[in-house]
Amino acid sequence: MRSLIDITDFSVEEVDQLLKTACDISENPGKYSNACRGKKLATLFFEPSTRTRLSFEAAMYELGGNVLGFSDAGTSSASKGESVADTAKMISCYADIMAMRHPKEGAPYVAARSASIPVINAGDGGHCHPTQTLADLLTIYRELGRLENLTVGFCGDLKYGRTVHSLISALARYHNIKIVLISPEELALPKYVRYEVLDKYNMSYEETTSLENALPQLDVLYMTRIQRERFDSFDEYERLKDSYVLTAEKMTLAKEHMRVLHPLPRVNEISVKVDEDSRAAYFRQALNGKLMRMALILKLLKEAEEGKQMEEPKDVVVDALHCDNPRCITSTEQEIVHTFKCVNRENGIYRCIYCEAKKKKN
Ligand code: CP
Repeated sequence: MRSLIDITDFSVEEVDQLLKTACDISENPGKYSNACRGKKLATLFFEPSTRTRLSFEAAMYELGGNVLGFSDAGTSSASKGESVADTAKMISCYADIMAMRHPKEGAPYVAARSASIPVINAGDGGHCHPTQTLADLLTIYRELGRLENLTVGFCGDLKYGRTVHSLISALARYHNIKIVLISPEELALPKYVRYEVLDKYNMSYEETTSLENALPQLDVLYMTRIQRERFDSFDEYERLKDSYVLTAEKMTLAKEHMRVLHPLPRVNEISVKVDEDSRAAYFRQALNGKLMRMALILKLLKEAEEGKQMEEPKDVVVDALHCDNPRCITSTEQEIVHTFKCVNRENGIYRCIYCEAKKKKN
């Protein structure tokens, strides 16, 4: 079935249609209150979540549908060793659509390849978080009235921040977007996002370690939390955790119309004093997440009824390369066949279809 694993699974036109639907839902909620009557959403959360899980559940209830699921892997049969693929097959017997969050990169894609219902990636490790990106795009659109001609700063943990990777990939497809990357060297944007998004789309970008220097030029500041759970070393986390704190004083350096986004939860990277500033859009962003998830559920259920299928990756090699990424789902589920997609034939560059780890092959 057609699923949403990575934001680029949808064309710009499809994303724009979702934005329109979300705006219409916001203006005419009654029109949609029975749209999913008799349908069930399964929420499979193998990792903690507040916003994503509860906004998915609120979205389905507001569409007149029902919800089932779990919010702790320890209460599911994954704790007894059940594979993601088997879990997805089971859930297909009980629900019409599922949203999955998993600590292993590529797990929702494994589920989508096994399920007979649409699968939505609700965050897979440090890899992708496409529904957060939909919330981010709607927030920028509603706050600033456009998704082009923007200078967008990303600040904090750009290495592990999956929301950053997904949003940069989405913005790459809009006209005249300039990206400002603000991070300590240790948490810089991964090279693969740099080469395969920023360079591929010829995006204008600059890097700095100074939030203060970057602020005056920004239309959007996307703050992120330093992701403690992704660090191998606690000492390294302690050293980097307070790299950036946005304060009311620093906000005086920003444009009048600049908007501050944050996928949340925040730890202490945005002072609570900033919440009083009308440019702080992060709580409105959480509401937008529910609206976009409503629009997404409607789209995928309609496409499932039409029998629309997920596209199979082209130009793949099966079992010839091995994924060494310890965060990839292939590292814990031995039955998954290691499969790589060719992304640059001339230089023999391949990427794992689950986690996008890079390999060279002659
Ligand atoms: N933004 C986000 O994904 O929040 P949760 O982890 O609370 O779902």
